[in-house]
Amino acid sequence: MEKFQIIAKTLFGLEEVLVEELKLIGATDIEPLNRAVSYYGDEEVLYKSNLHLRTALTILKPILEFKAKNETELYMKAKEFKWEELFNVDQTLSIDGFASGDLFTHSKYIALKVKDAIADRFREQFEIRPNVDVLNPDIKFNVHIATDKVTISIDTTGEQLGKRGYRQENVFAPLAEPLAAGIILLSGWDKESEFFDGMCGSGTFAIEAALIATNTPPGLNRNFAFEKLNTFNEELWQKILTEAKENVVPTSATIRASDVYKKAVHIARSNAERANMDKWIEFDIADFLHSRPKTSKATVILNPPYGERIQMRDLLGMYQEIGNNLKKNFAGCEAWIISSNIEALKLIGLKPSKKVALFNGKLECKLHKFELFRGTHKERVMRRRI
Ligand SMILES: C[S@@+](CC[C@H](N)C(=O)[O-])C[C@H]1O[C@@H](n2cnc3c(N)ncnc32)[C@H](O)[C@@H]1O
Repeated sequence: MEKFQIIAKTLFGLEEVLVEELKLIGATDIEPLNRAVSYYGDEEVLYKSNLHLRTALTILKPILEFKAKNETELYMKAKEFKWEELFNVDQTLSIDGFASGDLFTHSKYIALKVKDAIADRFREQFEIRPNVDVLNPDIKFNVHIATDKVTISIDTTGEQLGKRGYRQENVFAPLAEPLAAGIILLSGWDKESEFFDGMCGSGTFAIEAALIATNTPPGLNRNFAFEKLNTFNEELWQKILTEAKENVVPTSATIRASDVYKKAVHIARSNAERANMDKWIEFDIADFLHSRPKTSKATVILNPPYGERIQMRDLLGMYQEIGNNLKKNFAGCEAWIISSNIEALKLIGLKPSKKVALFNGKLECKLHKFELFRGTHKERVMRRRI
């Protein structure tokens, strides 16, 4: 099958995780960009990207590249493309525009010009033009202009991949699903040992962990925009879907989700039921400050309140208590904590062995990794000498 360039958009800080995911689905010439990864693949890789990638948001397929110095050139060159081979006149479309450089300054206007080019081409051929539907289009295009370099891509995804569909109820400040999945993949959790989110909120980490452990593709129960294109290969898609379903496995890992707030645990459980992952997760109403791991090799992932969207009386004291409990009860385990509150993170009182910069929505965050050893540093050095 013919190979072409594909661009997967992602979140800041997850580019390298996405590169690793792409290697597993047969992508080649992989190149991390800013909040995106460029790679090459055939139609199979394109479909698999939408189905399997946990840290991608949108999969774009560039279809047209040319140079234009003004709107007339943009319109003329866009009109030359055989849009009628891609989709039918009775399908609705929407176009997003992004411009940088000083030749084109209005993103909305460039989108409008390309829309006019497509509509006029259809009208000249069929005496009828496709309608625009900004909210729920069948086909979505993306026009990107960097100075005079125009790239027009098809959005092959449709509704963003991050919207997995299981999270219909949220507690305060939930993490985006691709961010939660990205943090789990960054942690290197082995999918077999204990996984513990002691501040689970709406359950995103535990649900994503169960999806990963069972090899369940995040996009198994949804539709994608590529299915509406004239170039859609139904037979290939059914083969990929069947293969993916056959590769789903049960997990023996202990995956735990608890929260001090009873309603959060109820919501997390309902979300897990919707994702069909509830049978792999142990839910509990518990204060993390007094929780313990069930085994000595747990991966703990916490997204405590930051004090931004959730106001708490003694936020700093709570971070101190998280650190105290980790030191006291989690020897042998690894803890990963994400927060935008850097002052509070310092109060954990443990030296992070790794720091990763991420964004939770617009909030700049740090993800800190803590390796929890038994005893003090001095005692460990002494033990090693004996
Ligand atoms: C930022 S939210 C977590 C959001 C979650 N990651 C999600 O995606 O929905 C923080 C959670 O910590 C919980 N929490 C606060 N203090 C806690 C404690 N001492 N023990 C357990 N949970 C706690 C809150 O109830 C809240 O659900």
